[in-house]
Amino acid sequence: MKVERTSFGTTHQGEAAALFLLEEPGVLRVRVTDFGGCLVRIETPDREGRLADVVQGFDSLEGYLCAENPYMGAVVGRFANRIAGGRFTLGGREIELAKNNGPNSLHGGERGFSHAVWKSRILDGDDGVGVELRHHSEDGDEGYPGALDCTVRYLLRPGGALAIESEATTSAPTVVNLTFHPYFNLEGHAAGSVLDHRLRLCAERFTPLDEHQIPTGDLAAVDDTPFDFRRSKRLGRDIDADEEQIRRGTGFDHNWVIDDWSPDESQLRLAARLEAPVSGRVLELCTTEPGLQVYTANFLDGELEGKSGTRYAARSSVCLEPQHFPDSPNQPGFPSTVLEPGETYRQRTLYRFSVAP
Ligand code: GLA
Repeated sequence: MKVERTSFGTTHQGEAAALFLLEEPGVLRVRVTDFGGCLVRIETPDREGRLADVVQGFDSLEGYLCAENPYMGAVVGRFANRIAGGRFTLGGREIELAKNNGPNSLHGGERGFSHAVWKSRILDGDDGVGVELRHHSEDGDEGYPGALDCTVRYLLRPGGALAIESEATTSAPTVVNLTFHPYFNLEGHAAGSVLDHRLRLCAERFTPLDEHQIPTGDLAAVDDTPFDFRRSKRLGRDIDADEEQIRRGTGFDHNWVIDDWSPDESQLRLAARLEAPVSGRVLELCTTEPGLQVYTANFLDGELEGKSGTRYAARSSVCLEPQHFPDSPNQPGFPSTVLEPGETYRQRTLYRFSVAP
């Protein structure tokens, strides 16, 4: 296994960005940048051993910097997904965030963790290779209280797996909810529609949305709904169902409640299995998180020019985003996302790549 660092250009503010290659030869080749912690390329073999890049994105830093970039491959923070009205109360204090998604705050605000150049360090030890990224977010950053120190480690695990370990500590009570935002197409980033992929989710319930894409607070059973992926199902089978929740998400853009989670849970549990029928590539996602946002790239519009000039269309990829539930700071019934000084936020997530027989 090897790890290498090269230059990835300079941001508009003149900060140098680096690109890291993490490789298990013939098995998994990952490129990640310290700009937003973005996973730039993930190359894995198909049944015949042919490598393809299975995440959408851009060839150069310029693409990641453009205003239209929909968080491709990024670390999302401080708070993944939407916070209703861009506000919540914490310890009796009203917190006001930047609203960057209609009436809501989305993915940490105007310039969240996905837009920062993180400090980096190569990891090359006995338990494999990787890169450690660190980011300091000031007290009041995007409206969030508390100075937050955040670490994300990408680590190759033998046999074709990428582990992501993250931690955060704060100087004052705050909320934290990190996620990772690769757009997967296991047939290859430019292969077109992802709707023939088969998806299995270890989730008996999901969190239905209101008309502003905010959870209603219900944990609804998936039985007899388009949201039932307990057995592997074509992603496209029910994506255009004549159903209110599907309309609210413009397809799938919902949080599933991963089975068997408890607040002290530190074990990785299988949350999702995605399989591409032609290439046979399989992605299994294991996580310590209670929720998984599944987003079928409904808002890509074919305008965005990605790698090798590819125009990414709606539903040409799928995001599987391990996280706490959206809008948790306003939802007393959801697992808490509050972080107190002296505590450590931790998330572990594993992407395991293989091929189906
Ligand atoms: C998440 C959200 C989507 C969208 C994308 C980014 O998956 O749930 O609604 O905002 O991120 O475009």
